[in-house]
Amino acid sequence: MKQTWNADQYVNHASFVAEHGIPVLELLAPKSGERILDLGCGDGALTKEIEKYGVSVHGVDSSPSMILAAQERGLSAEVMSGDELTFNNEFDAVFSNAAIHWMTNVDAVLSSVYNSLKNDGRFVGEFGGYGNVSVLVNAMQTVFESHPEFGEFINPWYFPKAEIYKKKLQEAGFKIHFIELIPRPTPLNSGVRKWLNIFSGGITKNLDAQQKDDFLNEVEHLVKPNLLINGTWVADYVRLRFSAQKI
Ligand code: BEZ
Repeated sequence: MKQTWNADQYVNHASFVAEHGIPVLELLAPKSGERILDLGCGDGALTKEIEKYGVSVHGVDSSPSMILAAQERGLSAEVMSGDELTFNNEFDAVFSNAAIHWMTNVDAVLSSVYNSLKNDGRFVGEFGGYGNVSVLVNAMQTVFESHPEFGEFINPWYFPKAEIYKKKLQEAGFKIHFIELIPRPTPLNSGVRKWLNIFSGGITKNLDAQQKDDFLNEVEHLVKPNLLINGTWVADYVRLRFSAQKI
């Protein structure tokens, strides 16, 4: 399912995504002089942080508007889909934060990453793991089911269990150093409607303006008892963090 991005909206209301990527960057531990690929770099906020380690970093993302935003930060970046990377034995490490759950062609992504890495290269990342935003996903599905005119609800995300992704990594030729599911309730300072506006664009792309408004109102109503905590919206994020190596 195609998700279209508005890079400005993302910068203003989803900057927490890059902020939460810092521990993953520490797990990557870039070494000066290395060549690193940022897979699903988005607007490049975290790519810019990687650069500070004195490495040569290149970003790829399937969204042209995100790549434009990354290039405007002065980064080397290009539009490329994670399942069709064109690199061969080029990178010391592939890094990815909050992007792999959008890449549902899982085996193709893993073999693409494998081919991009030099021998012994690291693949370090974090994305949505099993149970991620399940309150939100269940509510969106419920709203679709109560409105047959909305069409079929198609979940665009891949949120695997740690054991499943570990097996996938091993089958693709990686040795696993670390893999763990980490619950991380995440405050949504711009509210749940904004979150839905930014991230559920693919799900609601066939709805007209009125239907989209109904969708937002009803999802908000359904999730409120679980996600509005002492006046702050808190999304039920669960991360899958991993560190692997090409063997
Ligand atoms: C995530 O980062 O886990 C995520 C973001 C948007 C939609 C779904 C998941």
